[in-house]
Amino acid sequence: MKKFITLVAVGIGFLAFASLASAQIASSLHNLSSGGPNGIKGAVDEICVYCHTPHGGKKAIDPAGDWAPLWNRNYDPTTGGAFTVYNSYTVDAARSNPPTGVSKACLSCHDGTLGLNQLINWPGRGSGAAFVPNPDSSNQIGTVPPGVNNMALIGRDLSDDHPVSMNYADALSYGTGGAIGEDTHAAGFRASAGSGNRWTVVNGTVTLPLYGSSQATAKVECGSCHDPHEARSFAAQSGTGGSVMFLRAANTASALCITCHLK
Ligand code: HEC
Ligand code: HEC
Ligand code: HEC
Ligand code: HEC
Repeated sequence: MKKFITLVAVGIGFLAFASLASAQIASSLHNLSSGGPNGIKGAVDEICVYCHTPHGGKKAIDPAGDWAPLWNRNYDPTTGGAFTVYNSYTVDAARSNPPTGVSKACLSCHDGTLGLNQLINWPGRGSGAAFVPNPDSSNQIGTVPPGVNNMALIGRDLSDDHPVSMNYADALSYGTGGAIGEDTHAAGFRASAGSGNRWTVVNGTVTLPLYGSSQATAKVECGSCHDPHEARSFAAQSGTGGSVMFLRAANTASALCITCHLK
């Protein structure tokens, strides 16, 4: 009997662990399913469908040919107005306009032009209701329902946002260092490392991905700093504070920033 109870206890422990392990995106603000916990919802009771489809998604996020994985959003970044990209007197790397790849994937919701339900492959046979433009602004970022994040609308004006869609290798640092003060500007950026299609910037336990097929063309995109499947961002929404904003690393002591910037 004792053995049986132990087994049951172990079993329950395992189940609890298993459900924790599968929680991930389900307990985050990116669970947009109709049955999900968030204020902003789509019409389908599935989680991945708002971003991915197993078949028939976009080969590329737009005709220019930037890849995003099995993308299920009916997004054309050329409609809905031009983007304004980041600019300053000191920035060096050229920023693509419109933004590229994964950044466009994020912007297919966060620029506020596309309702959550505008999918390419709706569940079921064929493409279903997919191509019916969804005029319902209650499930579009930008019309902010009560209690919902008013910063989630990144919009089309990216001039107040950290630059994206630029070659990391083209980011230079002003000057070569000097005697004034402590900031010598000696070396602005940590070198990227990797091979093939996988380039990263690594500092200790923090690894941030760049997106591109060579070191020279690997880009900083939204996904370099954010992991859209990160579970811990639910904390703010559930009222316990401490949202980590889908960040790939907690930004305590600006650990995220100083992975790339040698400041
Ligand atoms: C809110 C949008 C969104 C949702 C919902 C979403 N994903 Fe993703 N997913 C992305 C984006 C954007 C990328 C590309 C960025 C990157 O490389 O991390 C991605 C990349 C991936 C990748 C390849 C990179 C990796 O992290 O392994 C896999 C696999 C994946 N998603 C699976 C899933 C599954 C399974 C679900 C549902 C449980 C899901 N995603 C839900 C946006 C989403
Ligand atoms: C399918 C639509 C969709 C896509 C694609 C998407 N998001 Fe979101 N995201 C949302 C919604 C909806 C919210 C919740 C907004 C709110 O609370 O008002 C959200 C919230 C967020 C938040 C705030 C989290 C918090 O804790 O407050 C961040 C950060 C974020 N998204 C980043 C990204 C990034 C980066 C990408 C691409 C890698 C991405 N999102 C792709 C729909 C999307
Ligand atoms: C260089 C890193 C970096 C890049 C690139 C980046 N972000 Fe962020 N993002 C952050 C950090 C750090 C925060 C948390 C800010 C805070 O705590 O207020 C954040 C917050 C957010 C938020 C929540 C805003 C809030 O304060 O509630 C959204 C939404 C978001 N990012 C979307 C995006 C999208 C979309 C892109 C690409 C166009 C992007 N981010 C690119 C670092 C980045
Ligand atoms: C994935 C690498 C990466 C991360 C992480 C990152 N940055 Fe950047 N950041 C860059 C690159 C590349 C540029 C473009 C620099 C250039 O070309 O001059 C840039 C540009 C900037 C600029 C504008 C510089 C200018 O000359 O106008 C500021 C400010 C900045 N980052 C601050 C931050 C802060 C704050 C964080 C953390 C929240 C952060 N960055 C995280 C890579 C990164």
